[in-house]
Amino acid sequence: MYPVILMIHSWLRWAALLLGAAAAFNAFRDRADAAERPRGQRWDWAFMLALDLQVLCGLLLYFGLSPFTSAAMGNMGMALHDPALRFWAFTHVATMFVALVAVRAGRVLAMGEPTSRARRNGRCICFGIALLAMVAGVPWPGLANARPLFRL
Ligand code: HEM
Repeated sequence: MYPVILMIHSWLRWAALLLGAAAAFNAFRDRADAAERPRGQRWDWAFMLALDLQVLCGLLLYFGLSPFTSAAMGNMGMALHDPALRFWAFTHVATMFVALVAVRAGRVLAMGEPTSRARRNGRCICFGIALLAMVAGVPWPGLANARPLFRL
């Protein structure tokens, strides 16, 4: 079960990142009047779906399958002093929760703005923050906790 969920989580990162970029770009392009429905909302929904699935897989890993987080939960004090455990138990999750909150803020808060300009800026900034948080939290090759780009 662990390798399967890890592989899904690893590949789904590309969908979440690409759809995040597409949703941010679409929000930037949206010139619809505030009285109209914003255009291209399917990008927002697809991005939210990919991120939600990613969070679901992440939580399965975090609270059950990952040996890193299991070790960290056994001794949180020690985990804080071990760079690998600290990354998986705190840093990765914290950045991804920033992304999750930013996407929801973009959809809920920004969509209620009274002018089209404020709505576009709000959605664009929130999706941009979400994208940056995801990029910052991914264990890219070359980093201390590097993982493969394409897990096979
Ligand atoms: C709250 C949400 C999330 C949680 C709790 C979470 C948790 C985890 C955990 C526990 C691991 C595995 C450590 C291991 O046992 O090897 C992991 C790996 C990983 N996560 Fe997340 N994650 C979350 C969201 C995300 C998101 C949104 C992305 C990217 C868009 C992402 C990208 C990755 C990548 C690329 C790996 C390495 C996969 C591999 O080894 O190939 N995670 N995550």
